[in-house]
Amino acid sequence: MRDFIFNVSTKILFGRDQMKNLAKEIKNYGSRVLLSYGGGSIKRSGLYDEIIKIFEENNIFYKELSGIEPNPRVESAREGVKILKENDLDFILAVGGGSVIDLSKLVAGAVFLDCDPWDIVIRKAKIEKALPIGTILTLAATGSEMDAGGVITNPETKQKLAFGSPYTLPKFSILNPEITYTVNAKHTAAGVADIMSHTMENYFTLKDGAYMQNRLAEGILKTCIHYGPIAMAEPENYEARSNIMWASSWAINGLLSTGKATPWSVHPMEHELSAFYDITHGIGLAILTPRFLSYILNEDTVDMIRDFGVNVFGVEPSEDKFNDAKKAIANLHKFFEQDMNIPMTLGEVGIDDKKLEEMAEAAARHSGGSIKGVVELKKDDILEIYKASL
Ligand code: NZQ
Ligand code: ZN
Repeated sequence: MRDFIFNVSTKILFGRDQMKNLAKEIKNYGSRVLLSYGGGSIKRSGLYDEIIKIFEENNIFYKELSGIEPNPRVESAREGVKILKENDLDFILAVGGGSVIDLSKLVAGAVFLDCDPWDIVIRKAKIEKALPIGTILTLAATGSEMDAGGVITNPETKQKLAFGSPYTLPKFSILNPEITYTVNAKHTAAGVADIMSHTMENYFTLKDGAYMQNRLAEGILKTCIHYGPIAMAEPENYEARSNIMWASSWAINGLLSTGKATPWSVHPMEHELSAFYDITHGIGLAILTPRFLSYILNEDTVDMIRDFGVNVFGVEPSEDKFNDAKKAIANLHKFFEQDMNIPMTLGEVGIDDKKLEEMAEAAARHSGGSIKGVVELKKDDILEIYKASL
């Protein structure tokens, strides 16, 4: 196991009855709030009214940044910075899924820099301080509620890129599983696939000696496999929604990647699909992951993939370890397709072969020439994985 520092200071307020703490938590940091949210789900669910009532009762001044898109766009960050500056706000409350939280993180850092927010994403500028952020999570998926990063899209340049700063780690996050009851089947499935992908990106590493972290990762994967289908069939099942919600935070908050090198593989490939075709992140990950595992299956990786099958899906170990590994991959594909009802080809989400080459080139370029994950993937390797996913 490698040396590491693990320090995630986000305060989690989990459960049905945590909104009573909202005003107190905000007042630890500020009193003039930017309330950021997406396309309106929080209005339909009644959460918006609840928040406004709390603001009014507690004399909390607020302005709104609304309409943040899924695959959030840099343009919304520009608008957010403008609202913050015009109103001298000192705190951001991000209410939504990963898109709203990610965009809010960029706004929190950009407000202190005299540059376009996109400069931060392309690393021309660096966040040196940020406004404090709190979140109310409405969709379990990205883990943005308990990590320091975000992913922003620039439609003009067809880029979707990650950024991160220790300063943008949320100060607190309210996680009420009941709020996720209204998440539709598609986004429930995509969220579960995203949580599993974060876990697998951290799990599929070679000879790292991080035995404990890998067993924890298997626990998170089994949690998703057990409760994902239950949440699909019974959207208001509290046990399922709460387990999935807590899994989302722990898949990516840094615990699983402690003590090992975990450069990610599937996310850089998926981000190009979302950048070029604006597809749902988790769906893209589900489509690519079994093809990625099949592509990298060789003498070096077979034990790792076989362990995954045996420990997560209960594949019976046999003399033929390659066959066991193939069964593991088939189980994963079947889980996404049959249990989570995810369309498992690029064609089904509107992606044909026309831009595969361009996307493969971009995925390699955005990762510094090649994706240096558990197995190095050059442009041609990425292209093969895309083609196998058509
Ligand atoms: O915009 P509204 O109206 O709120 O609707 C949203 C949106 O249409 C809806 N939704 C959210 N909560 C709901 C709800 N609908 C009904 N009831 C609720 N309670 O769901 C739709 C998708 O929301 P979005 O925030 O886009 O989904 P998600 O949380 O999956 O976030 C995806 C974004 O996060 C990035 C992805 O790339 C993508 O841009 N990621 C962020 C990461 C991070 N910060 O660490 C890591 C991830 O790997 C990921 O890349
Ligand atoms: Zn993800």
